[in-house]
Amino acid sequence: MIFLCKTSDVPTGKAKRIARGRKPAVAVFEVDGTFHATADQCTHGTALLSRGRIEDGRIICPLHFGSFDLMTGAVASLPCEEPLAVYAVEIQGDDIYADVPE
Ligand code: FES
Repeated sequence: MIFLCKTSDVPTGKAKRIARGRKPAVAVFEVDGTFHATADQCTHGTALLSRGRIEDGRIICPLHFGSFDLMTGAVASLPCEEPLAVYAVEIQGDDIYADVPE
């Protein structure tokens, strides 16, 4: 588990991008009081999902509007074809941790 950010850092219904230097960035989302962590880069291209829109449990890519299930990372709509990496989240007090591979 790695520390991502404070729960208060994540705007309701939106995302916070967690830059990690040379490692792939993580996007943290809060939906209905539940936090989710995913890879920030869309699997279809170079768009950042932290700049996307959340709708009905899906994250919608801001570039070509493909989408992924926030819980599972499964593709929800084309043109995305490859699933999105999602990371198990653990909340400790006000801190958000996720099982992000190093
Ligand atoms: S880059 Fe995300 S749908 Fe194309």
